[in-house]
Amino acid sequence: MIGVVIATLGVFYSFVLPKNAKSVKIGYALNNESHYGVSAARMRDELKNSLDLKLFPNSILGSERVMIESLKLGTLDMAIVSTGALQNFVPQVGVFDMPFLFRDLNHARNVLDNDIGQQMLNQISHEGIVAMAWGEQGFRHLTNNKHPVRVFEDAHGLKIRTTQNAIHIRAFKSMGFSPAPMSWTEVPSAISQGVIDGQENSIAVMLSEKVFQYQKHLSMTDHFYAPALILVSEHFYKSLDENQKADLLKAAAAGAEQMRAFVDKMESDGLSKLKEEGMEVVEDVDKESFAAHARSDDPYYFKLFGEDLIKKIRATP
Ligand code: PAF
Repeated sequence: MIGVVIATLGVFYSFVLPKNAKSVKIGYALNNESHYGVSAARMRDELKNSLDLKLFPNSILGSERVMIESLKLGTLDMAIVSTGALQNFVPQVGVFDMPFLFRDLNHARNVLDNDIGQQMLNQISHEGIVAMAWGEQGFRHLTNNKHPVRVFEDAHGLKIRTTQNAIHIRAFKSMGFSPAPMSWTEVPSAISQGVIDGQENSIAVMLSEKVFQYQKHLSMTDHFYAPALILVSEHFYKSLDENQKADLLKAAAAGAEQMRAFVDKMESDGLSKLKEEGMEVVEDVDKESFAAHARSDDPYYFKLFGEDLIKKIRATP
């Protein structure tokens, strides 16, 4: 009997955090119901016997740029961010932000999950950051309050918020828009004050951030794929023992998987929800008319990222 009780307690305690479990802060820009939120919650569950992961959603700890700076300084332990902000710190990551580079989610995932993606994680893991895993947001689309956008000519005169990412800004200029780079936290007020006409983001972001409450027209442009990253502060990482490091890596892989599963769902039924919420959707966007002005085979990108790398990405199934 005593044996049974001890065994039961053993099972029970194996699911309870050790009393002195290290408390770990993870920040992200979106809410807890978003793809970032479910990913962070999954990591918290995975780590429940090892580390005490505390979730800080909704940019409470600052914009993505500020969070990356905090990781580097060691004042934040973990963050989930887009490449939108990260490209300022690791310019080479911008290769994945090129317009019309990836054909679909499978193509993007195949690239990120093979040696190209792994090498990029290694490249990011310098100057105070350790890149744990690739998550994602889906493909980015355009919204605005002025008029439906279907072809290149419709872009003229539209002031669109882009991320503060040199590749995104250049692509938006090439596609005929006036880009207005700013952090995501500034977007709702910039739109309501008429400082900008629109923004661009994935369906998952538009739903979780309720973009439909302040934007009327949605154009399914698929202009960029939007990778996301689970990052850890090097300062924090070095404070962990080998078991905790292994647990963290495992948890990040599970968190990334959860994020992709969420995005899959949003990509399959999110659009109908945005329509139900009243957005007017242009589905038959003439993507070629935009891609003709913002091509990923532009020699500018070859020079920046290397022609071989771009060709290798394009040739990946
Ligand atoms: O547009 C952005 O800056 C990003 O996609 C967001 C919404 C902060 C999520 O990473």
